[in-house]
Amino acid sequence: MKLIKLLANLGYGSRKEVQRMIRAGAVTDDTGRVLGEKEVPPHERIRFRGEPLDPPFPVVIALNKPDGYTCSSEDPGETIYDLLPERFAHRNPGLNPIGRLDKDTTGLLLLTDDGKLLHRIIHPKSGCLKVYHVNLDRRLEGHEGELFGSGELTLNSDVKPLLPAGFEALGEKEALITLHEGRYHQVRRMFAAAGNHVTALKRISIGGLRLPEDLEEGEWRELTPDELAAVFEIQDQGAADCLKLVD
Ligand code: URA
Repeated sequence: MKLIKLLANLGYGSRKEVQRMIRAGAVTDDTGRVLGEKEVPPHERIRFRGEPLDPPFPVVIALNKPDGYTCSSEDPGETIYDLLPERFAHRNPGLNPIGRLDKDTTGLLLLTDDGKLLHRIIHPKSGCLKVYHVNLDRRLEGHEGELFGSGELTLNSDVKPLLPAGFEALGEKEALITLHEGRYHQVRRMFAAAGNHVTALKRISIGGLRLPEDLEEGEWRELTPDELAAVFEIQDQGAADCLKLVD
């Protein structure tokens, strides 16, 4: 790929703007030598105004989503894209969330520009379990595990029953929920169906990948290859059962 196209696709500017910046000497290699339009050294050796370039396609990043940010760039108010460098919104192909979180849900959100990878992770067959930490308004009643695990719970305005979900009580008003699918407001609607109300919701893992401890709320970073591989680790029998169900 030519240098102009590479930088434009990474969101550094339009092709014309990027061309101007290259001609002005903004793009160098790692020794500080100014690059011309026709030169494309290995990605990791290119510098833009002295800084390493953003990761090339395909990229997967993890964001620790804070409360109050929506996942769609079309929504009014603050969006997750406000937490990333401005140029990320101009990447081509663009970065999309792998399974959205509600505005008031926090925790692990993955974004990628790789459509195939995105579908591989969100499809129930992938076995990429999503685990949520839930705080509740009212005390747990003891029937939630059976209700959520039954495979027979159909939520309001849905046609198909939910796949069995994992449930673990952590306290009187606190639980972990493990999902194999991602329906609209799923966890909140599940607890509403059980006569309760979710007061705080945080996604703590996707597949075998936990929310990285080094990631403060609002921070993001590229996933390492090992972390990406961990997303596809199937961790428990629940996931294996789920795979049979959707086969
Ligand atoms: N379930 C919900 O209700 N909301 C989310 O953001 C994710 C799962």
